[in-house]
Amino acid sequence: MSRSAGCCQKTLHYVFDYETTKTLVIPNIGVGCIFRFTQLLVLLYVVGYVCVVQKAYQDTDSVISSVTTKVKGFAYTNTSDMDPRFWDGADYIIPPQGDHSFFVLTNMVVTPKQTQSRCPELPNPSTTCVDDCDCIEGRTDTRGNGIQTGLCVNYSQTVQTCEVLAWCPLEIDTQIPEPAMLAAAENFTVLIKNSVTFPKFNVHRRNILPHINSSYLKRCEFNRKTDPDCPIFRLKHILSEAGEDFQDMAVKGGVLGIIIDWSCDLDWWARKCVPKYSFRRLDNKHPVNNVAPGYNFRFAKYYKTPDGEETRTLIKAYGIRFDVIVFGTAGKFGIVPTIVNLGAALAFLSLLPAVSDWFMLTCLSKKHYYSQHKVTYLSEDTEAESISMATSYGTR
Ligand SMILES: *[C@@H]1O[C@H](CO)[C@@H](O)[C@H](O)[C@H]1NC(C)=O
Repeated sequence: MSRSAGCCQKTLHYVFDYETTKTLVIPNIGVGCIFRFTQLLVLLYVVGYVCVVQKAYQDTDSVISSVTTKVKGFAYTNTSDMDPRFWDGADYIIPPQGDHSFFVLTNMVVTPKQTQSRCPELPNPSTTCVDDCDCIEGRTDTRGNGIQTGLCVNYSQTVQTCEVLAWCPLEIDTQIPEPAMLAAAENFTVLIKNSVTFPKFNVHRRNILPHINSSYLKRCEFNRKTDPDCPIFRLKHILSEAGEDFQDMAVKGGVLGIIIDWSCDLDWWARKCVPKYSFRRLDNKHPVNNVAPGYNFRFAKYYKTPDGEETRTLIKAYGIRFDVIVFGTAGKFGIVPTIVNLGAALAFLSLLPAVSDWFMLTCLSKKHYYSQHKVTYLSEDTEAESISMATSYGTR
C-alpha cells in the first residue's frame, strides 16, 4: 500500500466517522437538584410569563378607532359682568362638533361693546409715558394691545399711557371670576361613542356593548362599581377619578385625558374584548411653579348697532379640554409567533447543562474526581493507546 493511498483512506475514514456523545451520570443530589431547579425555572418562565402573561403564542394587531362625543347639561348665570343668562350645550361647547377632543367652557372674562377706536394702553413699564415724545406713532408691540397713535393720554387720574388704535375699551383680564362662572358644568354629562376595528382580524367593536339597550342608556351614568359599561360620564366624576377638584380646575382651565384601553383577547377560549376607561390630567399642574397655568383662548361675537357701527363682545374663555385617547391591541393565536417563542424557550433549555456543569466543577467537594472523568485529553502521537490526564479544569 502506497503512502498516498493510506492517507486517502484515512481522510475517507474521517468523513464517514459517526461521532456520538458519551454520557456521564453524576449520582449527586446537589447537582441533580440544581439541574431540576433550573429546569423548573425555565418551565415557569415559559408557562407563566411567556404563555400566560405575555401571550406570546398570539398574533397581535393595534386598534383603529373613531370617537364622537356629545355633552349635555344646562346652567344659569347671574353675575355682575353679564346679564342673567341661561346656557345650554350650543353656548358652552366650543367648537360645537366634538370628536377626539371637546372643550367645555367653565369660566370667562367678558369685554362687551368693543369698537374700533382709540383708547389708552393698559399701564405697564413699556406703555407709561410723561409726554407725547415717549409714544411713537405707528409703533406696534406684539405684547401690547394696538397701534400707537403717538399721543400720551390719561389712563387714570395718576397714570398716563400711550394711546392706541384698537378694539376699545381694552380687555382687563387680571381678575378672573372665582368661583368659576359656569360652576354648574360639574353636573354636565358627556356621551362618548367609540368604534374600533382590528383590521388584521376583521373584528369590529364599539363601547356601547351589545347588552346595553336604549332605556338603560337614557338613565345610566358611568360608575366603576355599579355601571362600568355605561358610556355616559359626569364631568365631575371624570375629574375626581383623575384626582382633581372640578371647581378648582374650572377657574383657570386645563386639559384632561379620557383614556380608553381596548386590550382584546380574541381566542375562542378567552374571548374578552371590552373597553377599560381611565382618566388623568394631561396638562402639567406644578404645585410650586405655577406660571401660565390652565387653558384659555379668546373669541369674539360681532354685532352691528342700529346706526351701522360694528361692535364686538370679546370673550376670554377658560375651560377644560377633554382629550379622548384610544389605544389597545388585540391578540389571537398564531402559528408563527408560537413556533418562534417555542424555539426561544428550547434554546434556554440547552443552556442549563452549562449551569449544572459549572456547579459540579466548582462547588462540589469531589470536583477534581468529576473533572478527571469529564475532561479527557488524548495524547496525539499514538493512535492505539490514549493517556487520560487529570487536568486542573475547574480548580483555578
Ligand atoms: C350638581 O348636582 C348635585 C346633585 O344633583 C347638586 O347637589 C349640586 O349642587 C350640583 N352642582 C352645581 C354646581 O349646581
